[in-house]
Amino acid sequence: MEQLFDLAILGGGPGGYVAAIRAGQLGLKTVLIEADLLGGTCLNRGCIPTKSLLHAAEVYQNAVHSETFGINTGEVSFDYARIAARKDKVVDQLRRGVNQLVKSNGGTILHGYGTIIDAGTISVSGKDAGTVKANKIIIATGSKPFIPPVPGADGSRVLDSNKLLALTECPASLTIIGGGVIGMEFASLFQQLNVPVTVLEMMPEILPEVDIEVARILRKSLQRQGAAIFTSAKVTAIESGEHNATCSFELAGETKTVTSELVLIAIGRRPQSADIGLENIGIETVKGAIPVNDQMETTVPGVYAVGDVTGKIMLAHVATEQGTVAAENAAGGKARMKYNIVPNCIYTYPEIACIGISEEKAKSQGIATKVGRFPVAANGKAMLANDTEGVCKLVSDAATGELLGAQIIGPKATELISGLGVSMTLETTIAEIGATIHPHPTVSEMIAEAALDTANRALHYFRRQHKQE
Ligand code: NAI
Repeated sequence: MEQLFDLAILGGGPGGYVAAIRAGQLGLKTVLIEADLLGGTCLNRGCIPTKSLLHAAEVYQNAVHSETFGINTGEVSFDYARIAARKDKVVDQLRRGVNQLVKSNGGTILHGYGTIIDAGTISVSGKDAGTVKANKIIIATGSKPFIPPVPGADGSRVLDSNKLLALTECPASLTIIGGGVIGMEFASLFQQLNVPVTVLEMMPEILPEVDIEVARILRKSLQRQGAAIFTSAKVTAIESGEHNATCSFELAGETKTVTSELVLIAIGRRPQSADIGLENIGIETVKGAIPVNDQMETTVPGVYAVGDVTGKIMLAHVATEQGTVAAENAAGGKARMKYNIVPNCIYTYPEIACIGISEEKAKSQGIATKVGRFPVAANGKAMLANDTEGVCKLVSDAATGELLGAQIIGPKATELISGLGVSMTLETTIAEIGATIHPHPTVSEMIAEAALDTANRALHYFRRQHKQE
């Protein structure tokens, strides 16, 4: 059956389904084509399931440490199968919500695999097979885990994050290849569930994209919690046996091995652009990514691409914004995508949240900055919660005082960062943040204190000897 639409969207992740909602709000007759599960990686195999597991691990740790607060709980244990089942229930509920959101905005959902035939035609195979005709197309097909060409990487005990999330039993021990965002979130999760964890990262520090001071604080914290973390470690082979797998790696010129029940490979993701018919409309990819301009339009007029498949910043909230921009432009608008104020949150324990530019990045770009900092340990609310690891850093322009970036590691970091995003959008100065009354007692006070520290005026902080002006 052939159906005619204003807009066809290929892929129902946070880029695609949000584009469908926005297009519906703007009055476009829209179809969303999804081959697997609505919600994409974020909802089904990423953000939501991992955070559900991490939340359970936090509840467990709170129970284990309840005596600190005078609460007697007796022996504390966890049931991983039930933790996993609860995660699946939450995901299922949210997925049903996505379905309703798209439909309530007038969108049609087709379940099947879409292939672009020409700039106005998509052929759908599978459950809702047929041909879709549309004036505009948004490609939002996402990304998939990258598996390195290491011997044994396809072994029976080696998993990617999709497979690890599907486990209903807690691993007895885990080696994680890649100390990036996925690697460190899983390291933190299983560390908190008492699973022996080893991380093998090839760069000199974990989380190479994050402010080095913040990355170091997390590494040291996880090591204190018991994780083995090897940096500058090059994995050379993985051997899967009946019960265990052994990873061989080179470290400072020596070959070492680590054996664990399972191995997770988390060394990045690649855009999913193959087998969707790009060759039929003449779109050429760059390392798998679909090139787009700041209006999210590809080299073919009327065909847009959003989310991980564009190879920009692979984050759900970036995909969502890109989806909004593309939908508005498909409806005749002139929206533009900006990437300078994108929060980056890492849900480890302690949590990390960054936005804008870091001190090191500013230096490498020749931007003169001032950095105000405040230790979490000096914050009363953090102290009463016995959650005192970390620091809040605010980076501002040395000449104008405008807030250029923030890096927080510590409690509620991922919630605190949004306010700083608003500050950056409004081009707020560091003095204005310092002059804003923050509620007491809250963890957010460390933002005001870090702002005041920029002018050596932090209140609840023992004065340092050598402080920049
Ligand atoms: P990533 O790019 O964050 O980190 C990959 C890490 O693996 C890097 O530290 C890299 O140096 C290391 N590496 C690469 N090759 C290696 C090798 N052969 N041996 C050892 N280490 C090696 O990629 P990751 O963690 O797989 O995440 C994929 C994407 O998903 C990222 O874009 C990330 O931003 C996104 N994501 C975001 C989350 C969040 O916002 N909280 C959560 C999970 C994923």
